[in-house]
Amino acid sequence: KTRRQTVRRTTTTLTVPVAVAALLAGAGTAVADTAGTSGVGDPYFPLAGNGGYHVEHYGLTLRYDTGSRHLDGTAVLTARATQRLTRFDLDFKGLKVTGLTVDRAAAGFRRDGQELVVTPRRTLHPGQEFRVKVTYSGVPKKVTDPDGSADGWIATDDGAFVAGEPQGAMTWFPANNHPKDKSSYDITITVPKGRTAVSNGALLSRRTAHGRTTFHWRQTEPMAAYLATATVGKFKVEQYTTRDGLHVYNAVDPREAAAAAPVLKQLPSVLKWESKVFGPYPFRDAGSIVDRAHVGYALETQSRPLYDEAPDLGTLVHENAHQWFGDSVSLTSWKDIWLNEGFATYAEWLYSEQHGASTAQKIFDTLYARPASDGLWAFPPGNPGSGKNIFGTPVYARGAMALHELRRAVGDPVFFRILRDWAGRHRGGHGTTEQFVNLARQESGKDLNSLFQTWLYAPGKPNKA
Ligand code: ARG
Ligand code: ZN
Repeated sequence: KTRRQTVRRTTTTLTVPVAVAALLAGAGTAVADTAGTSGVGDPYFPLAGNGGYHVEHYGLTLRYDTGSRHLDGTAVLTARATQRLTRFDLDFKGLKVTGLTVDRAAAGFRRDGQELVVTPRRTLHPGQEFRVKVTYSGVPKKVTDPDGSADGWIATDDGAFVAGEPQGAMTWFPANNHPKDKSSYDITITVPKGRTAVSNGALLSRRTAHGRTTFHWRQTEPMAAYLATATVGKFKVEQYTTRDGLHVYNAVDPREAAAAAPVLKQLPSVLKWESKVFGPYPFRDAGSIVDRAHVGYALETQSRPLYDEAPDLGTLVHENAHQWFGDSVSLTSWKDIWLNEGFATYAEWLYSEQHGASTAQKIFDTLYARPASDGLWAFPPGNPGSGKNIFGTPVYARGAMALHELRRAVGDPVFFRILRDWAGRHRGGHGTTEQFVNLARQESGKDLNSLFQTWLYAPGKPNKA
């Protein structure tokens, strides 16, 4: 409200001279003042996300031809301007844009690397809701991440393995591609009959006509773009409702089915255990996608983790723990990645401890015994330094060690309350390392600065407390 008053005053009396000056200085100056930025200011991924608007909803309608690997898409974004916008960016890489409208009027656009720069016919006002429709097509290409791994739309022999962390969403839909912006999604995918297309949330409908099947998925709870999937393949599908009322949808590559079955059978009990330890499961839907793809990692795609081979129990625990830590509580900056990976890793340790296997202390001790030259101590998890390191061992293992040290310092009752409150207070939203450190201090009444300094930020192998 305050902002709007300021704007109104500006346009009437005070700044007429300023506006005139801007005009005189040339359109470039005037436009630059009200264009949305090309990134949200993430130090590791400067072009990720975009400034000036928030996407409330993505409506994606896709058709994938598994033979030619051609993707046709229509993306309808319902967004809200957070500033005056003469121009704004979307993140979109590779595919050809065949049409673009803003509020049904053809808009200007140009491509600049991963930025799709849009100039709507009419300037958007702060707080204004607007609708962007982008039609596109082509053969999607995965992206290579700073650490050499691949993500995005990754074609397989029978479809596609679709994983977007940290950058890949933009390979298959135009997005505000940073976890700072969370949205609801409707994802509709048409594939050749006999193939299954699996996405996030609930399956609303499945229809076959003219040799093709269309799957309509809906994710109502807010989701970061990197957690969206539209994985396509030949899958065995299993659906059921747990005693706790969660809708489970598992899609499994038949080649992985025998190995996956005993682990996936544990999903209800894993989710029940995690709900007991972390608080209520944050979504209505759950499940798994197992798609043989040799990408070398699994991803916590929201409500339905994606595995590139039959997972072991530890991986199942890890990806589902991310539903609380990473998916429901999102990052605001990739440098805070330990809030995702350290927590999901510590969930594995806790699961092990509480199911008669190794204790968290034993796992900690084994890791701590590694020499100072080990990669585990290559950089501190709270400050990985660059996008190249966000999935490095220190983020996972030393991040979990930091939580273990916190647990030892505050004791079990307070520690588990901190975990639950972290998930509860930031549910459906965001959290920063600073907020976590503050929560831990408040709930324990202890000065934990040197503990966090040592385990999250100090370079090299920490000395034992
Ligand atoms: N977050 C995933 C996990 O649970 C890892 C994703 C790795 N992504 C990548 N592009 N290497 O561990
Ligand atoms: Zn993880």
